Amino acid sequence: MKLLSVVGARPNFVKIAPLMRAIENANGKFNAGIQHKLVHTGQHYDAEMSQSFFDELGIAYPDVELGVGSGSHAQQVGQTMIAFEPVVQEYRPDWIVIVGDVNATCACSITAKKEHIKLAHVEAGLRSFDLDMPEELNRLVADRLADAHFTTDSIACTNLIREGVSQEKIHLVGNIMIDTLEATRKKASELDLDWIIKQNETNYMADSDLNNIREGQYAMVTLHRPSNVDDPAALSGILNFLIKEVAAEMPIIWPIHPRTRNRILDMGFDDQVKKVRGLHLLPPVGYMKMLRLNLGAKIALTDSGGLQEECCVLGTPCLTLRFNTERPVTLEANGGTCVLVGNDPERMRDAFHRKKKEPKTPFRPPLWDGRTAVRILEKLTTQS
Ligand code: UD1
Repeated sequence: MKLLSVVGARPNFVKIAPLMRAIENANGKFNAGIQHKLVHTGQHYDAEMSQSFFDELGIAYPDVELGVGSGSHAQQVGQTMIAFEPVVQEYRPDWIVIVGDVNATCACSITAKKEHIKLAHVEAGLRSFDLDMPEELNRLVADRLADAHFTTDSIACTNLIREGVSQEKIHLVGNIMIDTLEATRKKASELDLDWIIKQNETNYMADSDLNNIREGQYAMVTLHRPSNVDDPAALSGILNFLIKEVAAEMPIIWPIHPRTRNRILDMGFDDQVKKVRGLHLLPPVGYMKMLRLNLGAKIALTDSGGLQEECCVLGTPCLTLRFNTERPVTLEANGGTCVLVGNDPERMRDAFHRKKKEPKTPFRPPLWDGRTAVRILEKLTTQS
């Protein structure tokens, strides 16, 4: 069997690593004879946004690099389709595997079907029902075209059935990101917290007090959604909340996405941010360091979907800085550790003061057990 899988942006690498390991295992132990090509569209390209993930997760480097880079959505999707088409035409796999909801996911799903190749979507059926999110558009396109939908939970299955996807194409397999979490958590837990913070200190803020960071007593922040960081009013509200409410009570560790760093600079908020004692801005950190930061955090504040899921499994109380989520399984109402607060100052404040008192209470939805990639591979090999 010939497989071709696609990665483009940071969260994709974490999702493809377990599948690549499962393929290696199947070939090594059972002589499965699976041929596999990995294509990287190049949407993320900085070393810390891309290569560090391959190195840390032990993934072989991509067989093909499309080198698409940054640009508008239309540019990214269009250029990916153009560059991906000849690769598909030459390799002609039995299945193209796409993961998640980034622009690469959308672009490659269209090219795959135009070339009449069977398409498998890993993390299918997630819906925020918010068409202003580029990711929701990518999910809708990918799921409309896919021949196999691998889902993380039963809510995702219900969404697909409502949209008319036939039951036999839907496979509830669990969460492939949790495969990576389980495979790396021990190693990550051995990383020294001080080392991560000192090694990554950007001097973005000159008078940071590195010694006030203790295990279990800091907040971990990540932000990158356009709805939070591209709008000056939204970003300023969040910064105010972080500075006045959160940093006043505990140190903040914030690995900062290039998009957010650029917006802080462009909008002239950097002076305000630099002055805050206890606000530690790090450059983007790799997977292991992020996991280590999550393991030691008292509370997380994030707009990342993947982090919400990781917080659940690790038990970290989490403020989701979004008004909706495509991952309702992570919410308190469904047993998770996350609460939606948008970027509304009052909701953020109320939730922060309530959640900061909560102990870590891990929550693991069914099949988030570290064996999702093996299930996916079994299905793909028996359906080809
Ligand atoms: C993308 C995904 C988002 C995912 C996120 C994870 C889409 C529509 N969005 O958003 O779903 O949650 O990745 O990080 O696919 N940049 C760099 N270096 C890089 C990559 C980006 O400096 O290696 C900067 C560029 O200025 C770029 C900006 O970050 O324009 C945004 O990058 P982009 O890939 O367009 O979107 P993300 O915000 O990362």
